[in-house]
Amino acid sequence: MGKISLRPNNDYCPQTLFLYGTYDEYGNPDFGLFCWFSYIWEHEMGVMCCIGGNKLTKDNIKRSKVFSANLVTEELLPVADYLGCVSGDNPDKMKITLDIGKGAVLDVPVLEKAPVVFELEVSDIITKGDGDIILCKIRNVLQDESLSSDETVEQKLRRIAPVKTTAQTYLGYDGRSLGAWGEPMKQL
Ligand SMILES: Cc1cc2nc3c(=O)[nH]c(=O)nc-3n(C[C@H](O)[C@H](O)[C@H](O)COP(=O)(O)O)c2cc1C
Repeated sequence: MGKISLRPNNDYCPQTLFLYGTYDEYGNPDFGLFCWFSYIWEHEMGVMCCIGGNKLTKDNIKRSKVFSANLVTEELLPVADYLGCVSGDNPDKMKITLDIGKGAVLDVPVLEKAPVVFELEVSDIITKGDGDIILCKIRNVLQDESLSSDETVEQKLRRIAPVKTTAQTYLGYDGRSLGAWGEPMKQL
């Protein structure tokens, strides 16, 4: 089959979604939705992520050098979509119902409903124009006890149902469309 050449895009390259949790300068929690997230190696596994433009999450990470990355599941999707579509510059953004706890190792807000949470400490920030590539040490992985069961990986993933995204569309673990960006938040 032939191929066509296109300008830079990552359509049809699904990515896992995370909600990054930070505290603002007054100690109030903020969460933003992110998918440019992957892994690096430096003696042990670490995390790399990219935050473009001006975002409260970025300001908070640059100031505190710590944040949480909370795996987004289908149960969390309506609120995750909202947290990705509403800027932290809106003073009312966090006036929603959200079960927020604290990291076990780092001073970071975490989502009690996320089955997997990384507690991340920034080791390097590479600034390129208005984008920042953030390299992190994983200081702790908070994981639901239920993921230690004897089920297969497939059974566990079906149960927790992580959400992927590509082409401005949310997709279930099994590939079902869960709506375009901006749609799931309408259920709130
Ligand atoms: C599905 C989805 C994925 C996103 N992924 C990223 C990302 O990887 N990097 C980024 O800079 N912004 C990303 N955003 C945009 C931020 O979530 C958005 O700017 C949000 O309002 C930031 O919240 P904050 O201002 O509280 O930090 C994404 C938005 C959506 C809807």
